[in-house]
Amino acid sequence: MAYRDLRDFLTALEQAGELRRVTAPVSPELEITEITDRICKQHGPALLFESVRGHTMPVLMNAFGSSRRMAMALGVESIDEVAAEIRTLLTQPPPTSLRRKVGAGLQLLSLSRCLPKTVSSGPCQEVVKTEGFSLRELPVLKCWPQDGGPFITLPMVFTKCPDTGVRNVGMYRMQVFDDTTTGMHWHVHKVGARHYRRHAQLGTRMPVAVALGGDPAITYAATAPLPEDVDEMLLAGFLRKASVELVPCKTVPLDVPAAAEIVLEGYVDPGELRREGPFGDHTGYYSLEDDYPVFHVTCMTHRRDPIYPATVVGRPPMEDCYLGKATERLFLPLLQLTFPEIVDINLPLEGVFHNLALISIRKRFPGHAQKVMHGLWGLGQMMFTKVLVICDEDVNVQDTSEVVWKVLNNIDPQRDVTFVHGPVDVLDHAAPQPNVGTKMGIDATRKWPEEGFRRPWPDETRMTEDVRRRIDEIWPSLGLT
Ligand SMILES: Cc1cc2nc3c(=O)[nH]c(=O)nc-3n(C[C@H](O)[C@H](O)[C@H](O)COP(=O)(O)O)c2cc1C
Repeated sequence: MAYRDLRDFLTALEQAGELRRVTAPVSPELEITEITDRICKQHGPALLFESVRGHTMPVLMNAFGSSRRMAMALGVESIDEVAAEIRTLLTQPPPTSLRRKVGAGLQLLSLSRCLPKTVSSGPCQEVVKTEGFSLRELPVLKCWPQDGGPFITLPMVFTKCPDTGVRNVGMYRMQVFDDTTTGMHWHVHKVGARHYRRHAQLGTRMPVAVALGGDPAITYAATAPLPEDVDEMLLAGFLRKASVELVPCKTVPLDVPAAAEIVLEGYVDPGELRREGPFGDHTGYYSLEDDYPVFHVTCMTHRRDPIYPATVVGRPPMEDCYLGKATERLFLPLLQLTFPEIVDINLPLEGVFHNLALISIRKRFPGHAQKVMHGLWGLGQMMFTKVLVICDEDVNVQDTSEVVWKVLNNIDPQRDVTFVHGPVDVLDHAAPQPNVGTKMGIDATRKWPEEGFRRPWPDETRMTEDVRRRIDEIWPSLGLT
């Protein structure tokens, strides 16, 4: 069953013992970060700060911050359930028999029930303010000491392609500059930035709406690396198994989730840039100051008693790690459509998703590892992966100790390391210049004679089965455990 809204999810979290209320007064400036960071590092619960100094709205933190809560956010016991469902959908044989055709028809029908639908009103517009409001009414966090100001950290940013009208929803942080303006930190590679560039070419003002809160499946969808013209609200509908209900904004031609907590409506004028940052980022380092578009808020709508959802990013593990891990699992079946040789993928938390990918493949031909590397560097947001490690199928890439052991034994650095030049993540502060740098692929697969390897490849040290069995039998009598 889909959550109606954020508070419905909060009730579920509380009933599951996954939410703690903090009643002591705390400041949105640094203090909420320090408390949340400690809780994240202890793999602790979601936190609802009920007494935020200078504000009446409570602040929700760390709601996605564990595998269990991430699964709960998508209404399942484990994210693998959703991944299995996606795999079944993608790998279904063509319906030949009548039974199969009926089955496929029913499946299509149930999918069509997940299409977004527009409704005429919603709780996110219980209060409508078109003048005399201030963004300072929101308990926006200043997360880290060197941050350039307070940042809205869990926003769903709604825009439309001016040519096709296709909607995009992305999560891009927003620095609050004053009562009615914020930065709009869509990286150059992201879809929001593409819509912005097109508006700049057309010389038109860009309508933007930002929603906070709602069913957590919708918030997750805003972070998912979908292909450019796929509407995130479709993914959200698929995940929650029910349509996302959208309500038309009051002042801009965009629709937003009717059950959101808070909505900011406004526009971005192409050409107007302002210094944004620094900001303590996912990497655990500050992302540097740079010029970004300015979002002018023309209308703020909210529930009568809104909850302000936020997150803090920084040195992993943090809440965003679990959003990223959900993507790793949900997108593996899609990845395998293009790369059927991929067995598994692990984006270790320390690699903050763009720095390191560990991948196992069924190697079928000489140079296969390089084919996978180059393919992945050409695929959507995988282009940012700074280090790609390709292992054979018998390596459990979820076990980083096993990966380090096998990779270091199996590589000849000069032969097996590939460097390429190309786009890198905006957050990569080590690249010689912003957005462009080098990436490294490590081919840790066993080398074949057809790849020019003439020496024998040694077996791993493994005991014979009969000796293992014999020792299993006498083990209890040895008195060693
Ligand atoms: C908490 C959080 C904050 C994020 N902040 C930004 C950001 O400021 N700028 C950005 O370009 N991407 C940011 N991302 C990543 C994007 O949300 C992600 O790449 C998403 O797929 C972009 O959507 P798009 O492909 O529709 O542009 C953030 C992700 C999370 C989970």
